Amino acid sequence: MKKVLIATAVLGITMMSTVVFAADAGEAIFKAKCAGCHPKGGNIMKPTANLKGITDPEKIIKQVRKGSGAMRGFDAKAISDADTKVLADYIIKTFKK
Ligand code: HEC
Repeated sequence: MKKVLIATAVLGITMMSTVVFAADAGEAIFKAKCAGCHPKGGNIMKPTANLKGITDPEKIIKQVRKGSGAMRGFDAKAISDADTKVLADYIIKTFKK
């Protein structure tokens, strides 16, 4: 019984840390590459083009890859495909309005 409890606890901790890690990764990329112009999901250059209330990850990923206006795009060397998804998830979850 004790062994089962320990195994469950270990599994729980492992799963929790995976989730926390994913959230942290998105936040880390955001802080490194986006927060300079988009602090707290805003936009210091064009306030109307902020990140609040976006629900479609594709919109974020497209903007990150292609850029527009005063925002340059980021290629796969700057942010990998997997990272754009983690980043988009972070933005959608964090800047809800
Ligand atoms: C050099 C400053 C700068 C950086 C760095 C930057 N952005 Fe932007 N971002 C802008 C500007 C300016 C616009 C408005 C573009 C336009 O006028 O078309 C914008 C627009 C956007 C939009 C569209 C918002 C909307 O509602 O139209 C998204 C999404 C976005 N940025 C995400 C990001 C992400 C994610 C990063 C980091 C990978 C990032 N940006 C980095 C300046 C920046």
